[in-house]
Amino acid sequence: MLTREKVLDALKEVKDPEINRSLVELNMIRNIRIDGKKVSLDVVLTIQGCPLKVKIQEDVERALYQLGAEKVDIQIKSMTDEERAALSAKLRQRQGASQKAKVPPLLDSSSETQFIAVASGKGGVGKSTVTVNLAVNLARAGKKVGIIDADIYGFSVPDMMGIENRPVVIGETILPVERFGVKVMSMGFFVEDNTPVVWRGPMLGKMLNNFFSEVHWGELDYMLLDLPPGTGDVALDIHQMIPCSKEIIVTTPHATAAFVAARAGAMAHATRHEVLGVVENMSWYENKYGEREYVFGYGGGEKLAKELKADLLVQIPLGVPEYKKTDDPDFAPSVYAPDHPIGKKYGELAQKVLEKTAKN
Ligand SMILES: Nc1ncnc2c1ncn2[C@@H]1O[C@H](COP(=O)(O)OP(=O)(O)O)[C@@H](O)[C@H]1O
Ligand SMILES: [Mg+2]
Repeated sequence: MLTREKVLDALKEVKDPEINRSLVELNMIRNIRIDGKKVSLDVVLTIQGCPLKVKIQEDVERALYQLGAEKVDIQIKSMTDEERAALSAKLRQRQGASQKAKVPPLLDSSSETQFIAVASGKGGVGKSTVTVNLAVNLARAGKKVGIIDADIYGFSVPDMMGIENRPVVIGETILPVERFGVKVMSMGFFVEDNTPVVWRGPMLGKMLNNFFSEVHWGELDYMLLDLPPGTGDVALDIHQMIPCSKEIIVTTPHATAAFVAARAGAMAHATRHEVLGVVENMSWYENKYGEREYVFGYGGGEKLAKELKADLLVQIPLGVPEYKKTDDPDFAPSVYAPDHPIGKKYGELAQKVLEKTAKN
């Protein structure tokens, strides 16, 4: 026989895909009525027009039919502002952050999350492309990964990953947007129509701090940071904010580019951040005869790695992600598919990063 308890028990397995917690635990299942083999109930979502409404409804229906219901009647409702605020407070507690806590849980010394900052001497060398593809490949390897697009002037991660939705905000908690299994937070989500943002120092620190403290990341193995290029104040601030990140320095093969990138590496050393290694991007172009043309010079990555006493982790040739159809739901302008030659290179990079950061 169907009972309220059995219904609740069955729905404990159904999670809100964004918050990644059970609907029952989130108090989203209400008003359960049972009439023989007919179950009706309300599903109270965090926001009206929740994009995942259909999925949640289907998941609930499936669980109830499996339980033996023959007719399921679901009313979709949304929380009041007070309920949302209460939920947000509860999520925060879960994250271990009291409102007054100075150190956001992610930055707490007991956090298991490893930070990897991706830096470069100058813009345009592929720092964001490397961040995005390393993140996607760590996720492909089964890791829980987040990206903070900390390049607040040149945020490009959402576009590169083909993210079209915005983060869901519940009260004061922001849920990162997930794409290719990677949780993403970017200033770009909060800027209208690509208008440039003018940030002053204190605001900037606050913004980034918010990305750590107000965002519900859940548990992460790796948090990647796309740093602003160069060694300016902003980059330095971020370096100091994150106590122990490991750093990847991206350069092109050109000798002067490597020279400029060395300064970024020197900053990592000065702020006691371990340099994980160097990624040389745009290393060569493979022409139609299968020959390598060194369009942007040669040897920069190796030279830089030597100078920083670090490894040259990978050399990434020139090439764009190819997709058979542009309406492919897996299409993103800068994400290489796993079987793409450059996608494989990023797979190798992820493996090296996994080895170098393995906890023993
Ligand atoms: N290996 C590559 N082959 C071809 N184009 C690339 C490659 N890496 C990056 N790009 C392109 O170069 C431009 C700059 O890359 P981006 O990742 O935005 O650099 P950064 O973050 O350092 O400014 C982008 O248009 C990107 O798509
Ligand atoms: Mg960038």
